[in-house]
Amino acid sequence: MAPSVQQILEDTPSVLPEKIAAVVKEVPKLKEERQTQRQTLFYYSKALTNNHQYPQYLPTWNHGQKYSPLQPFIHTEHGKNADATFPNLLPQGSKAKKLTPTIGSEVTGVQLSKLDAAGKDQLALFVAQRKVVAFRDQDLADLPLQEALDFGGYFGRHHIHPTSGSPEGFPELHIVHRYGAPGTSEFDSFLAGRNSSTSFHSDVSYEAQTPGTTFLYIFDSPEEGGDTVFANQVEAYNRLSEPLKERLHGLKAVHSGFEQAQYSRDKEGVVRREPVKNEHPIVRTHPATGEKALFVNQGFTRSIIGLKKEESDALLAFLFNHISRGIDWQARVRWAPKTVVVWDNRVTVHSATLDWSSGERRHLARITPQAEIPFETPYVKPEEELKA
Ligand SMILES: [Fe+2]
Repeated sequence: MAPSVQQILEDTPSVLPEKIAAVVKEVPKLKEERQTQRQTLFYYSKALTNNHQYPQYLPTWNHGQKYSPLQPFIHTEHGKNADATFPNLLPQGSKAKKLTPTIGSEVTGVQLSKLDAAGKDQLALFVAQRKVVAFRDQDLADLPLQEALDFGGYFGRHHIHPTSGSPEGFPELHIVHRYGAPGTSEFDSFLAGRNSSTSFHSDVSYEAQTPGTTFLYIFDSPEEGGDTVFANQVEAYNRLSEPLKERLHGLKAVHSGFEQAQYSRDKEGVVRREPVKNEHPIVRTHPATGEKALFVNQGFTRSIIGLKKEESDALLAFLFNHISRGIDWQARVRWAPKTVVVWDNRVTVHSATLDWSSGERRHLARITPQAEIPFETPYVKPEEELKA
């Protein structure tokens, strides 16, 4: 079997030609193994020429990884009974600044990895309220990989992504690794056939238990560009007219992972777990805040149960357009070294931005704890809500 990226990178450059020769000489017969080798060598050569600071976080694709379907688990919502004055999360000396009135905060003066249990509970609630929070000057990327996972595992069962690259031995870490330069696959696939890279989605919403408090931390980013844009799905719901809100309650939509799996297969990538579809309410309620949010996204929501195709397509197209054009409930998060961005995947959608062409690397890791099965609470007229 080909050596892992991690193994190769730990070797000194002087032994590299021999290593590569050994790998090439042992070309296995299986197509999957050839693909793994090709990717390994690609990232190895890129890592050398680009002076990777976090080689332990380089993605690998192990075609031998096969996982059985996810089983249900009981999720504990840590934000539910947290202290809403946030004494452990935001002690004296820390600073929390809103990015916009409706969504997003930026926090300095707090070290996430040092939070006690009460602080982590408050983190879950704070993020549920602000939807996305950028924590600056964090040490998460510098911790051993298992310690980073142990931190994130507090918030729910780790999701293992069916198709993405991950560091060898750590399939729970979802790696984003891109070179923004014309001629690379990102530019080819996104911009050759599209006008923009805008693609709002809620991560892996096709799972039965979708992610909740979710973490993304950066290793390398372009000097400018590569921001992540988040949209507040609670505010997107609140802006709808009362008759439409009322009509959406009780409807469910199909979320599908099949297209993502097929895309990976077409590129000879990995499919670690067979794809699934799940039906989720179009309006879901957050277990800690009680807020109602739209829960449809362009990335994975395919149809509305019970509606005919034209009706379903038209209503989803309206909702997708409504969510993505509402800049008054969106925030643009700028990355900087040692930033950890935490969002609540139940009440937000987000989009990457492919706007840099300098060839600079954008390299991040995501920790994706799963949460409860999405549920909804009944529609309440505004006048009744005021009385309550
Ligand atoms: Fe995403």
